[in-house]
Formats: sequence, structure tokens, C-alpha cells
Amino acid sequence: MHIDIVSVVPEILHSPFSNSIIRNAINKKLVDIHVHDLRQYGLGKKKKIDDYPYGGGSGMVIRIEPVYQCFSKLLSKRHYDEIIFMTPEGNIFSQEYAKILSEKKNIIILCGRYKGIDQRIRDHLISKEISIGKYILSGGELAAAVVVESVVRLLPGVIKNQNSIITDSFYQKESLIAPPIYTRPSLYKGWAVPEVLLSGHHKKIKDWFYKKTMELNKRNTNF
Ligand code: ADE
Repeated sequence: MHIDIVSVVPEILHSPFSNSIIRNAINKKLVDIHVHDLRQYGLGKKKKIDDYPYGGGSGMVIRIEPVYQCFSKLLSKRHYDEIIFMTPEGNIFSQEYAKILSEKKNIIILCGRYKGIDQRIRDHLISKEISIGKYILSGGELAAAVVVESVVRLLPGVIKNQNSIITDSFYQKESLIAPPIYTRPSLYKGWAVPEVLLSGHHKKIKDWFYKKTMELNKRNTNF
């Protein structure tokens, strides 16, 4: 999979991709992630990328030309299956959509900043708008990192134990929340691991996990 991320503050994205699972996936050439600095496509000597909004109002707006220039360069090299804009106004991201994205070959992710981006970018250059939740971040970079991390870990070969993915919360529609898990010691400060898990009785353990999953899924997880 090939992922191009376009940002005004690319530095924010260096750390999330240089650690652990994502770094291993990059090293194993299972994913290719490029972060592009939108300012490089800025206008004039000052590399201007933003301007005042027409009609007035506070805050600056990302201009269309730098985005168009950057996308044109990327599009001249490959076809993209999806060109995504990270925005709190987008469709709410989910495990289901992470799975869909993990099956794409090439995607671009544009991160917003300032007051927003010129609406014409959204109307003519973007194919999907994604939000990671109903709250406002200062820009789309951290949201993009969330999307990329959840997508990359689904790529074949990234996580050795596929069973671990299948049992993750939200992977299967009917089992939204994974059951509780425990490890050694079986007793700590009087807090015991449920006895059934120590029984070695596979059927009973499976039934217990199922029962716990069902209980957890009935819980209201909204604040
Ligand atoms: N940019 C700012 N806030 C965001 C959010 N909640 N989701 C995606 N992109 C964003």
C-alpha cells in the first residue's frame, strides 16, 4: 500500500511513523508512507499557502493552488483509489472503514489547518472526508496518524498473529468490544483472575469469553 500525506506541519507526523508496528511495516516494504510539506507548493518567495476568507470572518484559509499543485504532482505518478480530507465534519472513522481502506492500493490524505481549506478543494479534488470524532483538533495530522495506524496494522503480514486482529474490539460486527484479558500472576493484592480462565477447560473458557463480550456490548460506551 502507498500512502501520501499532505500537511502544513509535516513534523507532527514523523514520530508516529518511526516507531513499532508502522516502522516495521515500512521496513518490510508492506507500506510506503510519504509525508509532503504543503508549503513547498506555496506561492511566491514567501511560499504563501493561506489567505483571508472571502466575505470576512476570523482565521485563515488554505488556498487551492498549493493543494492543486501538490496533488497534480502526485497524480502524475500513480492512480489514487481515494483522496481523503481529514476534517471534524467528515464521516466518522470506524474499524469497518479501516478495513475498507486497507484494501486500497494508493491513497492521499490531506490534513487541514487554520480555519479550513477553500471549499473548491473539497468539491473538486477530494473523494472522502473523514473525522476521527466529534471534537476539534488544531489540524488533521493527529487524525491522519490515527487512520494510518489503524489501516496499516490490518495489512497482510504487518501483524504476525492474524488471530490477534480478529479478536480485537470492533473487528467483528457482532462482537464490538473484546472480552477482558488477564496474565500472570493469577492473584495480586487479593485481586484474582477469574477461575474459569485457569481451568484449562476450553469449552467453558470460550463460553465465558462469549458471555463477557455480550455483557460489555450491552454497556453504553458514550460519555
Ligand atoms: N481535524 C480537526 N479535528 C478533526 C477531527 N476530529 N477529525 C479529523 N480531522 C480533524
